[in-house]
Amino acid sequence: HGTSRINEFGRLEIGGCDTLALAERFGTPLYVYDEELIRRRCREYVDAFRGSGFEFQVAYASKAFCTMAMCRIADEEGLSLDVVSDGELYTALRAGFPPERIHFHGNNKTPEEIEMAIDAKIGCFVIDNFTELRLVNAIAESRGVKVKALFRLTPGVSAHTHEYISTGQTDSKFGFDIGNGAAMAVIEEAAGLSSIEVLGVHSHIGSQIFEVEGFRLAADKVASFAADVRDRLGLVFSVINLGGGFGIRYVEGDKPLPAGTYVRAITDAVREQFTKRSYPLPQIWIEPGRSIVGDAGTTLYTVGSIKDIPGVRKYVSVDGGMTDNPRPALYDAVYEAMLANRANEEASEVVSIAGKCCESGDMLIWDLPLPSPNAGDLLAVSCTGAYNYSMASNYNRIRRPAVVFVRDGQADLVVKRETYEDVAGNDVIPERLRKKE
Ligand code: LLP
Repeated sequence: HGTSRINEFGRLEIGGCDTLALAERFGTPLYVYDEELIRRRCREYVDAFRGSGFEFQVAYASKAFCTMAMCRIADEEGLSLDVVSDGELYTALRAGFPPERIHFHGNNKTPEEIEMAIDAKIGCFVIDNFTELRLVNAIAESRGVKVKALFRLTPGVSAHTHEYISTGQTDSKFGFDIGNGAAMAVIEEAAGLSSIEVLGVHSHIGSQIFEVEGFRLAADKVASFAADVRDRLGLVFSVINLGGGFGIRYVEGDKPLPAGTYVRAITDAVREQFTKRSYPLPQIWIEPGRSIVGDAGTTLYTVGSIKDIPGVRKYVSVDGGMTDNPRPALYDAVYEAMLANRANEEASEVVSIAGKCCESGDMLIWDLPLPSPNAGDLLAVSCTGAYNYSMASNYNRIRRPAVVFVRDGQADLVVKRETYEDVAGNDVIPERLRKKE
């Protein structure tokens, strides 16, 4: 997919770059992003909204992969940006991302984060709870400004990959429950605050979703809530944000819908619910993360130790693992992979790919058909663009890998490989523990 192909040397090529050459130049493990594919995914959402009759914002959920180069791409493609921490906000601002298109999420924004965001003049806060509403209002008031706010609702729709459950979601750390009255109460309180401008409401129903029913249900719930708010408070929402969660194909059997299908389902549902009640159409915002960057990312590893337990299993270890991709260990996530330097060879055995961390749970892929691997082979794991680099750790004091963007035969470093200094440089040895000469 994307610009990936097998070249004349029988090697995997991405963005016109031979993966073996990338591994030699930048080392492994290496995150490689197909820039054209990221841009295409951005455009699919934007194009789907154009001509829908709605004003819209497509906010890239930067938690999926937040680096300055990625913020530049999101900006160039006209996307907005969803950040959830001071670190993500700092990254975006430092990359020159227009603050008015930044939305600040999260269930426990600190006073410092709120001050930083207000001072940067970000576009809006997505308010998660009462404590936060009062804190944001107080800080804005002390600075003599009025901040725009969306309110995160728990609409009582929770979508899963293969099914959706429409039940109460009262027991969630996020947002205001519509069912128990918290949602109405917060809008009522916010409407009376001097430094808060109520833009509308937000809902996020889940992640890696393969059908549209959940989005329809959420739009329905949000529209009924909007009706109640209008009847009670005479307040009209100008923005409905339906969050992210659009699925991608990790392995055969994953059946995501095209971006346009999700967007059409959302715009149709909102239009139907709002015109039924003769309300003016609101702006629609969405927040895709995984589906913007997930399938554009490939991780390259070098094969090292091989342990064959006859009749049981062959463990093939690579030079990375749960430190650069914690998703298999955390979520039992499944991935596909190939030998990038022997891309034309048929699979001849089934092996399991192990990471190098000191823990049995550090397995990247179970039961993967491959040509019989040797030490030194290059393993390419696909669809690692979302929630891999962004969730990477230094467990075992392993240095985080470099990240490169490839495009038209050119490879650009966008995150340097960590150094030993990055790993141990923040350590301090107290005087009394210092080694005596
Ligand atoms: N908006 C909100 C409010 C969210 O909480 C999320 C994801 C998104 C948007 C983007 O969702 P996406 O389009 O990426 O599905 N670490 C997990 C995924 C956590 C998602 C958290 N929220 C994983 O690796 O699967």
